[in-house]
Amino acid sequence: MSVLIEAARRVQRQAYAPYSGFRVGCALRGSGGRIFVGANVENAAYPLGHCAERSALLAMIAAGETRIAEVAVVGSGDAPCAPCGGCRQMLSEFAAADVPIHMAGRGVETRSATMAELLPFAFGPADLDGAPSRVHAQENDPFERTRATGPRLGIVLGSGLAAVIAAIEDRRTIDPSGPAGLPPPSVEGHARRLHTGTIAGLPVACLEGRVHLYEGDAAAPLRLVRLLHDLGCETLLVTSAVGGIRDDLEPGAIVVVDDHLNLTGQNPLVGADDDPDRRFPDMTAAYDPLLREVLDRSARDAGLDVAHGVFAGVLGPSFETPAEIAMLRRLGGDVVGMSTVAETIAAARCGLRTAALAIVVNRAAGAGGGTLTHAHTLAEGDRAAPRLAALIEAFCRRLANEGKDGR
Ligand code: HPA
Repeated sequence: MSVLIEAARRVQRQAYAPYSGFRVGCALRGSGGRIFVGANVENAAYPLGHCAERSALLAMIAAGETRIAEVAVVGSGDAPCAPCGGCRQMLSEFAAADVPIHMAGRGVETRSATMAELLPFAFGPADLDGAPSRVHAQENDPFERTRATGPRLGIVLGSGLAAVIAAIEDRRTIDPSGPAGLPPPSVEGHARRLHTGTIAGLPVACLEGRVHLYEGDAAAPLRLVRLLHDLGCETLLVTSAVGGIRDDLEPGAIVVVDDHLNLTGQNPLVGADDDPDRRFPDMTAAYDPLLREVLDRSARDAGLDVAHGVFAGVLGPSFETPAEIAMLRRLGGDVVGMSTVAETIAAARCGLRTAALAIVVNRAAGAGGGTLTHAHTLAEGDRAAPRLAALIEAFCRRLANEGKDGR
């Protein structure tokens, strides 16, 4: 079911819905196992528009399949979106009575019903209980408004680094959990909010509270990065709190990430991909060399020292043992953290140019210092946040001037 809902969410971005503003994506699994997708395409002469379900169904039929095994529909409203009466009728010509139809909206709530349960009712899932329809109600979608302001830089904030948010001017805050299908936050220091506005004149979208792989949803970092990409970001800045492995990387050091070792045992791109051209992203310059230079210059602008290094990405959530840190050091890791690598892989998949900053909040296990705790990570992140904010501000100023005098 989640694969199908995910496919419907992805194609929803292709919807053309300038009149209603209500974007819908549909994914159908044919009896042969193939997935067909469709989005709604509106037209000024309303009846000539196409619902997402109909678009997906036509794709299935054009491919030569005639039976539906499963359906998912995702709408841009808060409530799960159900097929309209006409689409139910059309689907039922190709679907047996027990075919499941999964419905989702922006929120985490999903509903499922069988074809037979939905068919006699003209509108939304609420109608299953006899309540009035909420389907295709025009929502005041804050994401549409964010798209309109066109953020250029997406920022993902690491543990304890939320103070950076104060640097955002004209700030508006959105709960991103629904549209991106992100799980609710489960880690202290990671309230999940999306802030938009400008930093040094550059439109930004800043995600407070990333999704970590250790939360158990390996594809969530991809959804998060796709959300930023979908909002219009062309560049991504990933920040994180890390442990210092290399001897010179003491708490407080800011490290420009040059490369990474993905030792998480996971990859956010595992699973179906709707774009075969993006299946195998090149990671040679995953941390964009030009952006790394821009970060060096921005650090000089802000009067800050930065180091460079390789990020050893681990799954967590336990910290490492001293023997593991000794291994990571031999493998070439300079800092160790439980984030960043998944987002950077996802960004490479989406074609975003990426930079990453790692803030050293402790010496890694066995490399000096005492017991490691998440509370310590948050406190040290908090201490480093003003310097990080100054660096990000200088970076944004340069990006805002890119193509003028930014480099
Ligand atoms: N290891 C892994 N992740 C971390 C650390 C660490 O020492 N410090 C902050 N995040």
